[in-house]
Amino acid sequence: MPVIPVVAIDGPSASGKGTVAERVAKALGFHYLDSGALYRLVALAARNKLLSATDVSQLESLTRQMDARFDSGKVYLEGHDVTDEIRSEWCSREASILAALPEIRAGLLDRQHAFRQIPGLVADGRDMGSVVFPDASLKVFLTATSAIRAKRRYNQLKDKGISASMEDLLKDIAERDARDAGRPIAPLQQAGARVLDTSSLTIEQSVDKVLGWFSELRLQVS
Ligand code: CDP
Repeated sequence: MPVIPVVAIDGPSASGKGTVAERVAKALGFHYLDSGALYRLVALAARNKLLSATDVSQLESLTRQMDARFDSGKVYLEGHDVTDEIRSEWCSREASILAALPEIRAGLLDRQHAFRQIPGLVADGRDMGSVVFPDASLKVFLTATSAIRAKRRYNQLKDKGISASMEDLLKDIAERDARDAGRPIAPLQQAGARVLDTSSLTIEQSVDKVLGWFSELRLQVS
């Protein structure tokens, strides 16, 4: 196992990987990287600077220079609390569009690597196991059917008092799946990862499964 172990949890939109990854990190006492939040922050920073997806070189320097901070469950951009703002449907869509640009992906690489600190890291996203931490100790592809994912997103929004239609959510999930899996650079892929289909699992069961795999690996190397 590498000196600073990484558990990479990748998967499609609304698969629940964020919740599972955060809980696995807590159970192991590891650091946590929500890489999707970085792409969301780029989308927000670009909007603040009135940049569009065609302003590639400006987007690249913005990605490298933006002042992004994660602190006690809150996310800050240029000192402002944007925790809720980056979760908006607008930001989800823009993040997925900008994430297809190689310059932005390259610009975020060092920031992501900086999260790898003792005693270990749990990182969630689309390319944690394939590109950012290819030497991760454990690579999980966490998924669920698109109907279940749309339902989970629907419930999340409902809990926040936001109304949404299942039809729109299903369409949005299908569009983002196609964009994230179909892009030529760092596409979402299952290759080399253990697949965990959470369609009929609770959050606790999913967390236990990942923790079980990780402790099996630890036993094998000790
Ligand atoms: O929460 P959800 O799974 O819907 O999205 P997220 O993980 O916050 O990621 C937002 C968007 O950023 C995704 O749709 C991806 O296009 C992009 N992303 C990426 O390309 N690579 C990552 N490692 C993480 C996110």
